[in-house]
Amino acid sequence: MAAIAGPEETTGPRPGDDSDVPAPRLTVIGTGYLGATHAICMADLGFDVLGVDVDESKIKRLNEGEVPFFEPGLPELLAKAMDSGRLRFTTSFEEAAEFGDVHFICVGTPQQEGSDAADLRYVDSAVTALAQHLCRRTLVVGKSTVPVGTAARLTELVQRLAPAGDQVELAWNPEFLREGYAVDDTLRPDRLVFGVSSAWAEERLRAAFAPIVATGTPVVVTDLTTAELVKVAANSFLATKISYINAMAEVCEATGGDVRGLAEALAYDDRIGGRFLKPGLGFGGGCLPKDIRAFAHRAEELGVGQAVAFLREVDAINKRRRSRTVDLVRELAGVTGGDLTGVRVAALGAAFKPNSDDIRDAPALDVASALHRLGAHVTVVDPQATENARRVHPELDYGTDAISAAIDADVVVLLTEWAQFQEIDPEIMGSVVAHRRIVDGRDALDAARWRAVGWEYRALGRP
Ligand code: UDX
Repeated sequence: MAAIAGPEETTGPRPGDDSDVPAPRLTVIGTGYLGATHAICMADLGFDVLGVDVDESKIKRLNEGEVPFFEPGLPELLAKAMDSGRLRFTTSFEEAAEFGDVHFICVGTPQQEGSDAADLRYVDSAVTALAQHLCRRTLVVGKSTVPVGTAARLTELVQRLAPAGDQVELAWNPEFLREGYAVDDTLRPDRLVFGVSSAWAEERLRAAFAPIVATGTPVVVTDLTTAELVKVAANSFLATKISYINAMAEVCEATGGDVRGLAEALAYDDRIGGRFLKPGLGFGGGCLPKDIRAFAHRAEELGVGQAVAFLREVDAINKRRRSRTVDLVRELAGVTGGDLTGVRVAALGAAFKPNSDDIRDAPALDVASALHRLGAHVTVVDPQATENARRVHPELDYGTDAISAAIDADVVVLLTEWAQFQEIDPEIMGSVVAHRRIVDGRDALDAARWRAVGWEYRALGRP
């Protein structure tokens, strides 16, 4: 297809750099947790940024200065970016193509219904919608987590659809941000990974991240395939570490050992390290569970399923922690057999982890709804995720705070370790419950403090 030349770049000096090479104008396609954070942070770094989404209501809220989800520090940064005039949001791909020199694809890749594979329809439709309007030399950068091989397929797609043809290049730049720390992880990442097919693409990416590169952040430049794999390899490693300690918790449960002491002793070994070695209810969220499943699925498709077969076990261990937590509630309630009818449970937490309102594959909600299915009367309380939880689980009751949710409870179960739950005074909570019984699903409470005032305390992997 004929290449159409156009102005390479359009605006002022490159942020974070003294050179007079103009800074690329950036678009960020998809304004969920990843995209909105990326757009806002890039504008904060001094770039001109256009955020794009097909969801008109989301775009309206963002243009009005409202972050559509809970993320500490992000609303303040959005306000600053909007005031600077460097950030705006649109639903028009035509406008995006006209505006941007570097386009970041940040749409979701959820698990496909009825399969472990990733659902690539949002990535495909974003790339298709953008490509049709790309009339000059530009770089399209994938940030979404995708099955290996996607970037090669998208390169062909984008060059076939774009009026500028092979003047449009594709790069992959995986994102490692954690919800709850998204701003910090974006502005001060551990590393940047640039998967590129040309020196030009690398130069464009270096320009697009100039202020971060200038702070000495390590940059790993590699090919597209390796960049795709880095993300799933990192998430698989983290998931494996969590399931490893939770597998040790299972052994502790069978032997009378204490997984908390075990984890602490392991953590002193620098080669092992203590991060992501926290036992409990296990991992959830929009990334780790679906990423390990999609990775295993893709590896099987490629004939190397055996190499990552252990990820199936990692997933199974993780799921068992949820049913074990339900069992602990049952044991504490003194119920033999399945039926929990008449048992009142206060469930502390709904979000998949603290400092987030995200309930995707949330272990907390999984446990709460399992208890409900067994007949318990469950009241859920969460500082941020109640609205999202209610939408998906309208059958559960929702409280406004931990103490009122615990009134007359037969069992209290801690499911998400929000700071305010860890700070609960066991005496105060003890004065409202029907029975002083607590299951610490996140191994986050001081057992001695609770037991000292008469609570029966149970935790996963602990005596
Ligand atoms: C994760 C990765 O950390 C991030 O790099 C990637 O880009 C996206 O996926 P996130 O899903 O935001 O980030 O949450 P993370 O902090 O990794 O926690 C994932 C889950 O693991 C949570 O449910 C958390 O409660 C659980 N977890 C974490 C444990 O059970 N034990 C631990 O020691 C650590």
